[in-house]
Amino acid sequence: MDRTKALASSWEANAGNWTRAVRERLIPSRDAGTDDAILAAISTHSPRRLLDVGCGEGWLCRQSVQTLGCEATGIDGSSQLIADAQCADPNGRYEVITYQELMDGGVSFEAPFDVIVFNYALFDEDAPSLLAAIRPHLSAMGVVIIQTLHPWSLEQGQDYRDGWRNEDFSAFENQNWTAMPWYFRTLSSWHQVVRTAGLALLKLEEPMASFNGQPLSLLLTCECHEGDPD
Ligand SMILES: C[S@@+](CC[C@H](N)C(=O)[O-])C[C@H]1O[C@@H](n2cnc3c(N)ncnc32)[C@H](O)[C@@H]1O
Repeated sequence: MDRTKALASSWEANAGNWTRAVRERLIPSRDAGTDDAILAAISTHSPRRLLDVGCGEGWLCRQSVQTLGCEATGIDGSSQLIADAQCADPNGRYEVITYQELMDGGVSFEAPFDVIVFNYALFDEDAPSLLAAIRPHLSAMGVVIIQTLHPWSLEQGQDYRDGWRNEDFSAFENQNWTAMPWYFRTLSSWHQVVRTAGLALLKLEEPMASFNGQPLSLLLTCECHEGDPD
């Protein structure tokens, strides 16, 4: 199986574990600041309509509706995660849509979105094509917000170079996870992804852990680029 397919199918296999990990607060970086950071980044833009791409079990849609009063739509390729999202939020809007379907261009929404967010949901090598594919779904002043692993959170000795890596989820006590291939990018590579997708970087943030001063994540806010990105 190629890595892109293995990446997507790992989330079918990991859906139950993931829902439990998010809802039982088993991911320390989320309490250390990444959840607050993505909510703050979204709230800066006071969205009326939010699209959460790769929404998982839907926590960010639920929180955004509750705290910001916006409308939220969550989409994800994992039917189990979308079922979990819908179950926790029966009046919410969630749909099974894969990234490939978005890139194929056959997906439509009833209106454009003021914020389109990817919270730890952009792991494939061809991120520029996916970002370019969601651009037409942005409102005139709309922004794309990406939170991802900070490029400097490498284990010592690992190459600071773009390339496929493997997440085995060994940090979790439960060993019943399926490994996920993911594409590591350097900081300059992320910058290039944004430009290649025809977006322009509005803001780059590095949420910090207060207990050790290490970056928790990389947070990019991008707007539509007028004209040639180069
Ligand atoms: C690490 S989880 C993050 C979930 C959620 N954004 C959150 O903050 O908890 C990554 C999500 O990306 C989704 N995903 C990964 N590859 C995908 C693809 N090719 N098509 C659709 N969804 C995908 C997975 O199903 C999973 O829900």
